[in-house]
Amino acid sequence: MPATDSSARGATIIGWGSYLPPKVLTNHDLERMVDTSDEWIVERSGIRERHVDGTTIGMSIEAGRAAIQSSGLSPADIDALIIATTTPDKQWGNAATVQDALGMRCGVFEINAACSGFVYSLVAAHGLIAMGATNVLVIGADSLSKITDWNDRNTAVLFGDGAGAVVLQSCDGPGELVAWDLDADGSAGPILWADVGGYIQMEGKEVFRRAVRIMVDSANKVLHHAGVSGDDIALLVPHQANIRIIQAACDRLGVDMDRTAVVLDRMGNTSAASIPLALDDALTKGRIAPGDLVLLVGFGGGMTAASALLRWGPRT
Ligand code: ACO
Repeated sequence: MPATDSSARGATIIGWGSYLPPKVLTNHDLERMVDTSDEWIVERSGIRERHVDGTTIGMSIEAGRAAIQSSGLSPADIDALIIATTTPDKQWGNAATVQDALGMRCGVFEINAACSGFVYSLVAAHGLIAMGATNVLVIGADSLSKITDWNDRNTAVLFGDGAGAVVLQSCDGPGELVAWDLDADGSAGPILWADVGGYIQMEGKEVFRRAVRIMVDSANKVLHHAGVSGDDIALLVPHQANIRIIQAACDRLGVDMDRTAVVLDRMGNTSAASIPLALDDALTKGRIAPGDLVLLVGFGGGMTAASALLRWGPRT
């Protein structure tokens, strides 16, 4: 069910922020922990270092605070908080703890769609705004370091911790979301999973193959519904799992790498945090201008996929 209803009350992103825990684990640190090398990791994944030992709640508080601050709102103005995470610190109440710490009083909930969770949450936030909410805080946060087996070289080199957040505000007219797509293929669940209380397990090669396909399919659906092509995209903000997955998807979508946001070299795969972290980085570097088409594309365990095409509006 992609595309948007232009008669609906739309939204614009009015604030953003991010947070990375201070502890950095480099590829050279990993060389001392498992049988691997910096050369292998960089060549196969593009990752050089990642941040670890964060908590989902703690990182969400910091990223959420930064996003509210940049929006110019106060915490009391937020009507709803959504946290996308696949690594909650507690079985429930993670978003509620973040709400309390930030001094908000609003409805809160958590979404688990693995690495696609931020885009799923962004679309859900637009739904809340279409139904009457004014300001919604959306956070993507994951502390994958706590579900990574640091003795398993197949997975230990890929993942990291972080959080990114945006504040959405209702506006007159259709707003910035031009088209969206939420997708999943449950038949691919057994190639990438973690049991409750267990570590991340994956068949890397098969995940790679399917990831490119499901990502490109999802992105093409929103491009098609918007009546645009890869050439029209000013910036692609993909899930940051592996530079080779990003390159393969870019090739198929017709988007050059210089129009693509990449932060995985410094952060690794941070799951639901990776897209808002890459978006925040691009905005900080001035890579997005009013009028630009920005395409967010996620894929993750499940397997899930999600895309959102935004027409970036003017900022005061
Ligand atoms: N260091 C050195 N050698 C390694 C390492 C390592 N860290 N890990 C595996 N190897 C070895 C393998 O054992 C294999 O050895 P063998 O040939 O003797 O059996 C060899 O390197 C080649 O392994 P491949 O699996 O062929 O390597 P590939 O080029 O496929 O790269 C990788 C592996 C990086 C995991 C890649 O397949 C990938 O990125 N897959 C997708 C992973 C992903 O995106 N996961 C998460 C997505 S969703 C989410 O975020 C939850």
